[in-house]
Amino acid sequence: MAEGAVLLRGFARSFETDVIADIGAIVAQAPFRHMVTPGGHSMSVAMTNCGGAGWVTDRTGYRYDANDPAAGKPWPAMPASFRALAGLAAAEAGFADFSPDACLINRYQPGARMSLHQDRDERDLGAPIVSVSLGLPAIFLFGGLKRSDKPQRYRLEHGDIAVWGGPARLNFHGVAPLADGEHVLMGRQRINLTFRKAR
Ligand code: SIN
Ligand code: FE2
Repeated sequence: MAEGAVLLRGFARSFETDVIADIGAIVAQAPFRHMVTPGGHSMSVAMTNCGGAGWVTDRTGYRYDANDPAAGKPWPAMPASFRALAGLAAAEAGFADFSPDACLINRYQPGARMSLHQDRDERDLGAPIVSVSLGLPAIFLFGGLKRSDKPQRYRLEHGDIAVWGGPARLNFHGVAPLADGEHVLMGRQRINLTFRKAR
């Protein structure tokens, strides 16, 4: 996609059975919720997390939190299937020894979108972002280091993984409004797993 950014088509397919089961177990403990931005808007994407640090937003701002604020207890642990998939994808993209401590789980239902943003709440910008797509296809917008850089558009399908780091680590990105549909394994939704080294 750019220097430091690659798209691994279908890379997660061989992990899908375990990963989908593990998502179910996480969501049973830490349900999806629509978080509120500092500006007071409820996000169209519903979110939860697993791992030692979970990305959260509320009226006070964005942060990583060891606890699920809705439950007052730690986020579910990161499953072995998640860690293995993220590490292999990062290595395939040229980033050895990726050991994420945070996995944000995004659920898009038809119409949900994510506006252009940078992932910049992490302490260690040397580690890449590994972003796994499951379920309904989405149009991923991948721009440059400036918000005004015109984004490229990529159709991300079930099993595709985008990895960006190095010179692309702070590139703007987002997701166009999800088109309606029915996925054979995931139903009427797209799930995205975003792995990061947060701390
Ligand atoms: C994100 O940037 O957090 C999500 C990207 C995606 O859903 O593909
Ligand atoms: Fe992001």
